[in-house]
Formats: sequence, C-alpha cells, structure tokens
Amino acid sequence: MKIELVYDGTLVPVTIVPFGTFGDRLKFTLWRIKMSRKVWKAGTFIYPLPAVMVSCGTMEKSNIMTVAWTGIINTNPAMCYISVRPERYSYNLIKEQGEFVINLTNEKLAFATDWCGVKTGSKVDKFKEMHLTKEKGEFVKCPIIKESPVAIECKVKEVRELGSHHMFIAEVLSIDADEKYIDEKGAFDISKCNLIAYSNGHYYSMGRKIGRFGFSVQKQKKKRS
Ligand SMILES: Cc1cc2nc3c(=O)[nH]c(=O)nc-3n(C[C@H](O)[C@H](O)[C@H](O)COP(=O)(O)O)c2cc1C
Repeated sequence: MKIELVYDGTLVPVTIVPFGTFGDRLKFTLWRIKMSRKVWKAGTFIYPLPAVMVSCGTMEKSNIMTVAWTGIINTNPAMCYISVRPERYSYNLIKEQGEFVINLTNEKLAFATDWCGVKTGSKVDKFKEMHLTKEKGEFVKCPIIKESPVAIECKVKEVRELGSHHMFIAEVLSIDADEKYIDEKGAFDISKCNLIAYSNGHYYSMGRKIGRFGFSVQKQKKKRS
C-alpha cells in the first residue's frame, strides 16, 4: 500500500508493507521515509555567478553590456570567457575589436549593472546615462569603468559558436584594481569591495566570510590553558 505523508511541509511517499511483525513493518516504513528530489529537464542552474559589466569598443565608440555567463577557465596563462548572444549590439564590437574588459560589480553598481543588461547600446549611451567614467586601459583600446573595483583586460583568442551564445575565450592581459581596496602592505582586500552575485534571476550581496582556502584540512591551534 502506498500513502503520502506531509513531512516538514513536503509530501513524502511512504510504503507500508502488509506482512511481518509490527516491529518489522515499523522499521521498514521508517527506512522508506526520504525526501524526494525534483528532476527538471536540462537547463542552466549553476549559481551563484558574478554579474559583470563588460565594456567594449573604443574610447570613442564604446558600450557596456551585463554578462552572467562568465568565468575563469585556465590559471596559467590566465584565461577566461564570456558567452554572448550574436544579436547583442556588443557582439560585433567585441568580435571586430578582439578585446573586452570585465568590470566586477558591487552594491553601488547594482542599478547600473541591471540597467546595462536591459538597454541596448544601439539606442543609448550607457556610460553617459549611468554616469560612469571611461578610463583608458593599459593594454586594450576599449575603456575600463573607473567606478568598478576591479577591471580585467582581455584579448580574444577563440570564438566558439555553441548555439544561442557564442563563447569568447580570452587571455587576461591585466587586472586593474582600485587602489582604495589595497592596504599599505600591497594586499587587496576583496571583502571591502561589496561585490555582488547573480543567482536564478536575482542579485545578492555577499554574505559573511566562512573560511579561507584549505580551512577544512587546517590543524586547529591548541588553546593555551
Ligand atoms: C544579470 C544579467 C545577466 C546577463 N547575462 C548575459 C550573458 O551572459 N550573455 C548575453 O548575451 N546577455 C546577457 N544579458 C543580457 C544583455 O546584457 C542585454 O541583452 C543587453 O541589453 C545587451 O546590451 P547591448 O545590446 O548594448 O550589447 C544579461 C542581462 C542581465 C540583466
């Protein structure tokens, strides 16, 4: 016999076996209580991701688009990617120029990040409308966004036509960091940047720090008595 119980607000399928002693039946029933998982068809659900502002074009003819399909793909040489739909105005600017800048975004830039992701540069000047400042990059012709805490200058190495999106695989040429986040010892304090993340259609600020790389295997310091 199959019944459904409401457990912790979720329907849980349970099987009751109509034989054995009362104890056996009870044990078996308890073993079969488990939370179900829902399986959806294939889709994109790797979250959280950064929502970056990609600046492209030249100092004269420039644009900004918001990109969440981005990430690191190699350490040495440092390489990353952005995936862009060919119908975006930015697509041809990036393809023709062979360069772009990934500008990390923080809470202060959240409004502009969203706006640059819903308006097209074919109709509006996003730098002007969002009161963002163009700054000359060290290695690329496209501008970096001065208000961004970290701007990553990239040179396109390969374009992979995957389907809806084309993936620009790029080499990182430089990381331009805002000096206000660098301490007197030269260390960059990323926790002060208030970076934001994008998760399933929403923007989030970063939560509290929960550990450093390798903390799971680090030996606990013995407390002195
Ligand atoms: C949070 C967010 C993430 C986005 N991620 C991508 C992306 O990864 N690739 C893409 O092609 N478009 C992405 N978009 C949509 C573009 O940013 C949007 O179509 C923008 O208007 C394109 O600007 P453009 O026409 O000036 O190039 C995203 C939009 C938002 C708001």
